[in-house]
Amino acid sequence: MSQPRILVARAIFPDIVDRLREHFDVEANPDDVIWTPQELAARLADKDGVLTTGSQRIDATLLAAAPRLQICANMAVGYNNFDVQAMTAAGVQGTNTPDVLTETTADFGFALLMATARRMTESEHYLRAGQWTKWSYDMFAGSDIHGSTLGVIGMGRIGQGIARRGAHGFGMKVVYHNRSRLSAEMEAECKASYVSKEELLRNADHVVLVVPYTAASHHTIGAAELALMKPTATLINIARGGIVDDAALAVALREGRIAAAGLDVFEGEPSVHPDLLTVPNVVLTPHIASATVPTRRAMANLAADNLIAFFGGRGPLTPVNTPAVGRRG
Ligand code: DGY
Repeated sequence: MSQPRILVARAIFPDIVDRLREHFDVEANPDDVIWTPQELAARLADKDGVLTTGSQRIDATLLAAAPRLQICANMAVGYNNFDVQAMTAAGVQGTNTPDVLTETTADFGFALLMATARRMTESEHYLRAGQWTKWSYDMFAGSDIHGSTLGVIGMGRIGQGIARRGAHGFGMKVVYHNRSRLSAEMEAECKASYVSKEELLRNADHVVLVVPYTAASHHTIGAAELALMKPTATLINIARGGIVDDAALAVALREGRIAAAGLDVFEGEPSVHPDLLTVPNVVLTPHIASATVPTRRAMANLAADNLIAFFGGRGPLTPVNTPAVGRRG
């Protein structure tokens, strides 16, 4: 019997591609070419499954051009690159990579918060540029983390990890806002209190965004929300581009309406709003919150395991939808 045909849409660890080759007829992309949607569709025309990385859009147009496609295994916990409704209607399974990246991503969120509040990259640039000729009492004075109020918007697994780090590690008072309130046990474990978004924005010294991107969460933070924040506050986005109105944020940073921001994700990435590149009080990183070798390996392995389990008839391990009838009937 012929093996299912799988496309690995971006370069991933070669040994994990080899593992897939033990189960499937694999077309890989070792040169990491960024295919246009049309090129991706052409490659998927004869494929039964695809391993995506979050930068390939899977929508009705692509699904129509890929009649054999049964599963899209995303190597990411976020799956806003999937049109889940179109996939479900077409009988196509989607999977993601939850849990394996939670602690690594929470670590990074905290690192970005520390770097932003304590002006680490801004001061490093100053030093590297040879501008450090004397010490002064207020040189790169930032804001404290310990003992301050941390506001977490989006209290899923990663948000909870950040809350725990803040409360237990740094003695922060933690407030959170989420679509639904956590159980009393979970609130106690995270030492976090539920508040409205407005109350959180008004009171938090540091606001961390960890919400999934949907039409409803588009521009969760825009000019109106930034206006509610303290002028001394920092804003951290490790969620998705589009959760923050980057143009409005650049204005708020330039005008000192908030103190600083740390951004790992951007609207339209890998493009970055040009105004963000010219304001000093923002720390910018290229979507690397889950980027440690063990975690990226775990994500790639979980995506591969989803494909293997699915075609092995055992069902996907971490599904994001439940198509009533798969394309196999
Ligand atoms: C995720 O897993 O969603 C990260 O943002 C990497 O894409």
